[in-house]
Amino acid sequence: MKRIGIFTSGGDAPGMNACLRAAVRTAAYNNVEMYAIKRGFAGMIENEIHVMDSRSVSNIIQHGGTIIKTARSKEFTTIEGRKKAYTNIIQNGIEGLVCIGGNGSFAGAKQFYEEYGIPCIGVPGTIDNDLYGTDYTIGFDTAVNTAVDAIDKIRDTAESHERIFFVEVMGRHAGYIALAAGISGGAESILVPESAEDWHKMVNLLLGKSKKAFSIIVVAEGEEHGNAMQIVEKLKQMDATFDARVTILGHIQRGGSPTAFDRVLASRLGNAAVEALLQGETNKMAGMMNNRIVLTSFEDAINKTKHLSPDLLRLVDVFNS
Ligand code: F6P
Repeated sequence: MKRIGIFTSGGDAPGMNACLRAAVRTAAYNNVEMYAIKRGFAGMIENEIHVMDSRSVSNIIQHGGTIIKTARSKEFTTIEGRKKAYTNIIQNGIEGLVCIGGNGSFAGAKQFYEEYGIPCIGVPGTIDNDLYGTDYTIGFDTAVNTAVDAIDKIRDTAESHERIFFVEVMGRHAGYIALAAGISGGAESILVPESAEDWHKMVNLLLGKSKKAFSIIVVAEGEEHGNAMQIVEKLKQMDATFDARVTILGHIQRGGSPTAFDRVLASRLGNAAVEALLQGETNKMAGMMNNRIVLTSFEDAINKTKHLSPDLLRLVDVFNS
């Protein structure tokens, strides 16, 4: 393999640049040319493809976002879109791909490999940490630290006014950010889509006999009882005197300088992805489990569920009993 294409896809995550740097430099080390495909699958279709040498990734390890841009491409879900992408990949002489992204991006890469046989290795880059086959995804640690910083600040005003605050964090279908940020921020209650009991415990805490005057409740955006605003409305219907404030952290969690943890993770996985491609691997995600690089088939990474740690869920109860 003499030429590899690399792209970032789906929601950006802090550490994607560090991963890009690692992959570009690993390719150079192995005398392989690296081509950046801008804006993910969209750029593959539009032929936004350019060479990247070692120097082109200088001074990016500390930056959030992705210098090669990202997108969610609808056109790539069509047969015509993928055909255009294939034509551009071939015309640019690209023989293998590194896809930095999440679930949806890997599904696209898998389909592309099955249809056109272009080898691809994925790197888990999403703040949600919801991919099977890796203990952590790139960006998760930074996002959690951003959320905890915000929770610490909210706690000051919550305590002064003796108010209840609902802090909504990201995680489309998963409670990883909520659980980690909630435990780190000393939340009284954490609502995640993976748990059915958390709702009743929270209602009891806020509306039960020994009501709390001041509380931080962390809510994952994918919580099955609704988002933070809807939850407050539901509680008001149960008790007209209920008064609370809502803070939605939103996209602030997706930006910022990656933590050292995310930079190391991104560097190891970017390196592993290129080495795996050069060793003839394909259709797999390079992840980190128990501090070791592990390759997991796209099939499993996409379809299997990584469960929230029951130990961490239990801690919330222990600390707030
Ligand atoms: O998957 C990452 C994520 O940040 C989710 O937590 C969130 O639901 C979604 O992306 C938001 O996507 P967008 O930036 O396209 O609104």
